[in-house]
Amino acid sequence: MNQLISLSQAYSKYFRIGAAVSGRSAVSRHDLLMRHFSSLTAENEMKYSLTEPEEGRFTFEHADSILSLAREMGIQIRGHAPVWHNQTPRWIFEDQGGDASPEKIFERIDAHSKAICRHFGKDVYAWDVVNEAVRDDPPGAGESPVYRNSPYFRICGERFIEAAFRSMDRYAKDAQLFYNDYGECIPEKRDRIVRLIRDMRDRGCRIDGMGMQQHYFSVPDLDELRRSLDIYAGLGLRIHITELDVSLMAAVNPGEERVKPDDPRYGAFIRHISEHMEEITERINDIYVQLFEVYRSYSDVIDCVTTWGVSDDMTWLDYFGVKENTPRVKQHPLLFDENGEPKPCVHQLIRDAQGA
Ligand code: GLA
Repeated sequence: MNQLISLSQAYSKYFRIGAAVSGRSAVSRHDLLMRHFSSLTAENEMKYSLTEPEEGRFTFEHADSILSLAREMGIQIRGHAPVWHNQTPRWIFEDQGGDASPEKIFERIDAHSKAICRHFGKDVYAWDVVNEAVRDDPPGAGESPVYRNSPYFRICGERFIEAAFRSMDRYAKDAQLFYNDYGECIPEKRDRIVRLIRDMRDRGCRIDGMGMQQHYFSVPDLDELRRSLDIYAGLGLRIHITELDVSLMAAVNPGEERVKPDDPRYGAFIRHISEHMEEITERINDIYVQLFEVYRSYSDVIDCVTTWGVSDDMTWLDYFGVKENTPRVKQHPLLFDENGEPKPCVHQLIRDAQGA
């Protein structure tokens, strides 16, 4: 491992290499992060519920340990993700026992944006201002064709997105502002994301970039990935890959959508995975190599590639969607293994970056 050159150094001519970290992994994977990464995202610590659990009471101590690590590394962080329908306290939507008015919500978004920008300041080079505001499925009767029916949307319509971008623009002049979402390469959902971006820009919002989450639950469609990069870049957006990880499912599920535990195919997939683990983890290595080949070829528009976690010992995928009785397997979705050692793909990615 000591012989291996730094992944982020090898990629410095292409884009930053980032990792999502928690307070725990910032400590346990300190050396690995110092050596191989050039961007950090707080996995949860900068979200609304952890930074303003009650109105006006700001709790930045969770994020501050990550900020200290970034300073020690001499890098800036990605700010993630103030306006989102999850990990957001109920109080934002309530007032005097009923729904808050849209104006009250915009006021709260503004106060929150001001406080987080003042606290994190120039340590943040890009903000995921709004996360996942677009719907996954075709609309039902009377539903918006574009927007997710979240509490924000139910009360404010899409104006909450505009309010969020306007406030962040006011307080984070030097940071790039991103819209961030998953399923961003699925054509129908991608169309909705494009509509959101156009709509918000028509209203005068500054949106600098598209955060492509890139959580893989099915075999990557590299053509669709390239098409998506072309489409987002064609809007004049910078691109960050914000939450890359490759589930075991990505080696076996040829469809577009995530196969969930209540899907009749799920059990058979998990059995197959358990019986062919070696082959499947090799396949994940190959997927990383292929994805990075595409990312490198778009390095004129991609500025950062972040994995959602550091090493396989701590990954949200071990818990995602799993219920008491669902069959489970340990996931291996990241670039570094459970011991923090680089997987074969890391060696290959470095060779590829060096043109060997
Ligand atoms: C989404 C969010 C992230 C994180 C992941 C799962 O993609 O954007 O902040 O919560 O889900 O952990």
